[in-house]
Amino acid sequence: MSVDSFEASKKRSDAIQEDLAVHPEKYVMLTGDRPTGRLHMGHYFGTIKERVRLQDMGITTRIIIADYQVITDRDTTANIQDNVYNMVVDYLACGIDPEKTIIFTHSAVPALNQLMLPFLSLCTESELLRNPTVKAEQEASGHALTGLLLTYPVHQACDILFCKGNIVPVGRDQLPHIEQTRNIARKFNERYANVFPEPEGLLTLDVVIPGLDGRKMSKSYGNAIALSATPEETAKLIKKSKTDADRNITFDREGRPGVSALLTTAALCTGRTEVDIAAEIGDGGSGTLKKYVTESVNNYLAPIRERRAELLEKEGYIKEVLHEGNRRANEIANATLDEVREAMNMVY
Ligand code: TRP
Repeated sequence: MSVDSFEASKKRSDAIQEDLAVHPEKYVMLTGDRPTGRLHMGHYFGTIKERVRLQDMGITTRIIIADYQVITDRDTTANIQDNVYNMVVDYLACGIDPEKTIIFTHSAVPALNQLMLPFLSLCTESELLRNPTVKAEQEASGHALTGLLLTYPVHQACDILFCKGNIVPVGRDQLPHIEQTRNIARKFNERYANVFPEPEGLLTLDVVIPGLDGRKMSKSYGNAIALSATPEETAKLIKKSKTDADRNITFDREGRPGVSALLTTAALCTGRTEVDIAAEIGDGGSGTLKKYVTESVNNYLAPIRERRAELLEKEGYIKEVLHEGNRRANEIANATLDEVREAMNMVY
């Protein structure tokens, strides 16, 4: 994405941020996650916390567990059920309220998936091939470019537009998909009838949450602290993270990525600044730093982990939340598909 269009997206996003509190009733938020494993602190500080904030502001909120997106670049769905249920548990433990927020999966909502056909007709081959995120993901996966990976941004447009989502909290890497969604909505409305909003990305997540090695936190880098990790596992992960030999702790993202990632992790959990924490530890070395970070993380996550443990005891309830979410998502998707059929003269 060009710097220009990033700046334009950022401007629109900032304007919406201001308007959210004034006119919460104007907004429908849709966002989601791929159920490929447990949610970690990067997800929490990057997006989940923001979703809970929007939900509690009274904005209409929907969350998709994007199960069909798992097979864009993987050959197996062996763990998918466990991942999906655990994702529901993680959401609820973090404060997503199923009374307010619809939680659902792709595979349970046929009408959402059916939007893919008219939407694909609105995209050209070169548009699809141009998407920089698709290219990056294909390279990282080491797989050939599957048809689904190439077209998943269009599928993501179905996720957003089936419920007429108009705000999508996303990281910068997902902006090309929002652009694609806006194009699809615009073209559909021009060609047939005005059915869809042109959604905006909410760029609240422009901080990159560092993993334990200073790179972006990601399960595939092995640098993530899962919300579901025990305090002991958390301590172990932090203990083995790579720092450096300088005992004097300072915040220097470029020069000292390991030390700085630990400082940022503690800063997120305590609300203090990295510089402040570094000054307090001073010559205490990385041992003292790691002890402080472990305590901060474990204290911060304690109530989430407690709720998680309680929810894990209530398997029936978790399934019920998902069934009810799927039922409500189907209602919305069916109504939208009816409008689409009408707009396309396909009511027989
Ligand atoms: N692709 C997103 C991710 O990997 C997950 C996702 C699926 C999503 N559908 C979406 C995000 C719709 C926003 C809107 O994080």
